[in-house]
Formats: sequence, C-alpha cells, structure tokens
Amino acid sequence: MTRILKPTPDGIAQAADLLRDGKLVAFGTETVYGLGANATSDTAVARIFAAKNRPRFNPLINHFPDADAAFAQVEANDLARRLADRFWPGPLTLVLPRGPNATICDLAAAGLPTLALRVPRGETARALLSAVGLPIAAPSANPSGRVSPSDAYHVLRGLEGRIEAILDSGPCSVGVESTVLDLSRPTPVLLRPGGITLEQLSDICGTVRHADDYASKRPIAPGLMASHYAPSLPVRLNAEHVGPDEALLAFGPPLPGSKLTWNLSEHGDLEEAAARLFSGLRFLDSEGERRGLTGIAAMTVPRHGLGLAILDRLRRAAAPRPPVSGDDDDLADALG
Ligand code: TXA
Ligand code: MG
Repeated sequence: MTRILKPTPDGIAQAADLLRDGKLVAFGTETVYGLGANATSDTAVARIFAAKNRPRFNPLINHFPDADAAFAQVEANDLARRLADRFWPGPLTLVLPRGPNATICDLAAAGLPTLALRVPRGETARALLSAVGLPIAAPSANPSGRVSPSDAYHVLRGLEGRIEAILDSGPCSVGVESTVLDLSRPTPVLLRPGGITLEQLSDICGTVRHADDYASKRPIAPGLMASHYAPSLPVRLNAEHVGPDEALLAFGPPLPGSKLTWNLSEHGDLEEAAARLFSGLRFLDSEGERRGLTGIAAMTVPRHGLGLAILDRLRRAAAPRPPVSGDDDDLADALG
C-alpha cells in the first residue's frame, strides 16, 4: 500500500521517519516529483532502482535543504558557489568531484568519482530535507524511461504499491527537470537542459559547453540515453500538419484538423509550456489510445530559454525505444 501524506508538519514528519528508516517516499519539488531514499544507504538506494526498474549504471541526484549541506559532500569551487548563490534553491543540479567526507553511497553515485547535488525550491521539499537531516537521492518518480510525474496522481499511477508513501505538495510549478551542469571539468558542461536556462547560466559561467559537443558515441552522462520520457504512442516531431489518426501537442495557434489537442501554451509562453509538458504527454497518450489514435504529432517550440529543455524532452520521447523498455540488460545493450 502506498500512503498519501499531506504537506502538514505531521505529514512531513512521517515522511522523514520513513526515509530515515530506509523506505521510499516520493515528494514534490518545483521541477517534478522525486522518488526519495536515504542516499547514504546502499540498501535504501537499491530500492529506488528496483521500484523504477532503473538501469543500475545511472547515477542519481542528491537533494539537500541548503548549499552548506550539499557542498559538505564535494570539492566545491568558486564557480559552484556563485551558481549556488544565484540559483539555489532552484532547478539547477551541479556535478562536482566527490569530497573526502562524502557520505553518499556508491550505488547512488553509480561508482562515479563525482556527485550530483541539488537544493530544490519547494517549501515542502525543503522542510522534508531539513527534517530528515540526510542527503536524499531522488530521480523522477516514474518507472524508468517513462514520462516524469508533475503531480502526486501521476506518481500513484506509475508506482502504486511499489513505494511507501507520497508527500503530496500539489502540482510542480516548473514542470521539467533541473538543469544538470558538470563543474568537474575545466569548462562547465551542460549535461541536461532544464529549469534554469542556458542564457541564465551563461550570465555567470561565461562559456558553457554542450554535452553534444563531445564527439563520443557513449553518453558522457549515463542519463543522456536517447529514449526517455516515452509515452506509449509514438511521437512525431516538428509537425506541420496533423494526420487523421494523430493527437496534437500544440504550441501557440494549433494546427487545423486535430480531433484531440493539448495546447502547451496558447499564447506561446515557454514557462507555461514547460509546466504543462508532461501532463500533456500523459493526457494525449491515454486519451489518444482510448480513442484509437496511433500517434502524437508535436509542434515545435522556439529554440531558446526553456524551449531547449522542452525540445530535449520531446526528442527523447520521440527516439526509437530500447527493445524491452524497463529491463536493465536490454537498456544496457541499447546504450552500448
Ligand atoms: O529535477 C530533477 O532533477 C528531478 C527532481 C526529482 O529533483 N530529479 C531527476 O533525477 O531528474 P534523475 O535521477 O531522473 O536524473 C539524474 C540526471 C541523469 O541525467 C544522470 O545521468 C545525471 O543526473 N547525473 C547524476 N549524477 C551524475 C554524475 N555524477 N555525473 C554526471 N551526471 C550525473
Ligand atoms: Mg527521470
């Protein structure tokens, strides 16, 4: 049984107890719902991988109530501190070399010499993290490879019975995951576009390299696998017309002729679009399937600001699927 906890002092205290006890608790952040576990315990973290069916080589983001707690785990540098001052609490994850006093277990780091850290902005999330007093590893609270959850109901649909509780703090305001920035290299590398835009980062970092710039076939961050965030119906990108059997994911004035439409933002607002993205994919997927539609046609969005994160998620939703999604070995093969 999965319990739903209210974001009251009592609900937060219960969630904290469960986490300290090695159990799995999903909780809302400003980006998406995270599936939390005690990041210092291999046993607790192993439960995350099991509940999500997540490939074991994929490292997790560790969550903290404040920058001091986060930086105690790593070799922080000047740039990391400036970014934290500006964007924490908020949708930015920093990857830094593991420090000598780190307590995060190897499984959460997937054996890497670096750690991913984040201080989320949600009030409830921060109250929970303070109450637990331990780093909390939390990937998005969905079965591996599927659409991320932006409210408690999404979490329940994907993971009911596989996790102890969900701390329900309502819908997520940002709606796409945090930006992941690797600061363990001479030049910062953008590993995943997200809630903090490249323009915002560049203000403080100057040059930011894109993970795609590295001419390597193997993803430099394990989470950069092509197929991810996948609904069941196939997704077609850059749609300029809608087929008779397609649902439409619109942005701005919708294409004519669609029988089933979810508009990310009628006025072309990228923040609104990011916040409505995962709900929209879920809606078109389930409602489209119910009506016998065979695909989702996605209109494009501008290539700046939060548009980069939205396009990244859409590309992954449209990518060829691994042979059997959710199976560790097949995913490992698909990654090469
Ligand atoms: O918004 C978010 O970031 C959400 C909420 C719950 O906080 N969390 C989230 O976590 O999206 P997850 O585990 O789904 O995404 C982790 C990303 C992956 O792309 C992973 O490869 C990367 O962070 N990552 C984690 N540790 C890393 C490391 N040491 N080096 C490089 N990439 C790392
Ligand atoms: Mg995820």
